[in-house]
Amino acid sequence: MSDVEDSDCEDLHSSHGRDYDTFMQETAGIRRLYEAGVPFFTKEQLQDLSRQLKQAETSEKPEILIEGLEGTEETFEVRTGLTRAGSEPGTEWVLKAPAIEYRTFGKLTSYRAYRMDGYSDLSLRVLHYMELRDEVTKELLPGFRYAVDSAEIIKNSFTSCIQTWEASESYAQLQKIVESRESFPPITKIVALALGSMQPRSIDNGDHRSEFQHALALTLRGLVGKRQGQTTENVQCYAQDPAYTDIDKSILKKYDITILEDPDAFLEIDDSTIVLTFAPDVPVRQVVADIARPAMMIWNTCEDERWMHNGREQFM
Ligand SMILES: C[S@@+](CC[C@H](N)C(=O)[O-])C[C@H]1O[C@@H](n2cnc3c(N)ncnc32)[C@H](O)[C@@H]1O
Repeated sequence: MSDVEDSDCEDLHSSHGRDYDTFMQETAGIRRLYEAGVPFFTKEQLQDLSRQLKQAETSEKPEILIEGLEGTEETFEVRTGLTRAGSEPGTEWVLKAPAIEYRTFGKLTSYRAYRMDGYSDLSLRVLHYMELRDEVTKELLPGFRYAVDSAEIIKNSFTSCIQTWEASESYAQLQKIVESRESFPPITKIVALALGSMQPRSIDNGDHRSEFQHALALTLRGLVGKRQGQTTENVQCYAQDPAYTDIDKSILKKYDITILEDPDAFLEIDDSTIVLTFAPDVPVRQVVADIARPAMMIWNTCEDERWMHNGREQFM
């Protein structure tokens, strides 16, 4: 999954034949819904999924029922904790908590995806990510475990990133924009999606991207609160990333950032929200565009955004 779905424009322009004709026929309804402006994601649908995911945590027969855009229904069995034979002898894959796959118009009308999985009208699906571990000791293999396990080291590194960020030219520019812009919409929330874990899995991962992105969320809350003549507590800060570890959660809690489980951060977004997201693995912009009109969105540029079709972003 990515912010912008894989382009299958080559397929659309080159490959034809019976299979392609069937694909076009089977996905015609989805195209019609899109052209008619029907949202592929709604708050009601996400609320229902959130409720089912929470229920599944305690249910004896955990199942999630999802309805597709054209009425198809699919039931997903939640199998957290189950194991499968690993890729190397003596290893096993273990299924992690369920995750949501957000399936945009681009994905649902992709010929490449159709050739792999066939027709589907589900804009949401549930899947399990997996981790590889030793079959006997149950210790996660390198690449799946964390290189630094000390909360103190990660907290100090985050504090130092906040200081570096607040001394930067970019921070000064942001401060100027927030303080001097004539009209500024009322802001009550900052919702940060996919800012990543601050706990590195590899010692070589020294870019501190996640820490700087969280620093931006925090200082934005301070600047906006000040501009509105309030204390920072009046602007709530929410963050959602399934990658957050217990250490991330404890540090962010100290900074009064509320961690939400997928999809609950999406449900918080309204017209007095600033949304922050950088290189998300999920199509944040597409989901947000369907469910809300936030006051501001801050994200990184995506190269593929430039691919336009009839004046519209092809993979919205
Ligand atoms: C490519 S990383 C980017 C991390 C960080 N923003 C950066 O720039 O380095 C994508 C992130 O999206 C997160 N992600 C995946 N599914 C998500 C979801 N449903 N909600 C929020 N974040 C999600 C992943 O856990 C991961 O941290």
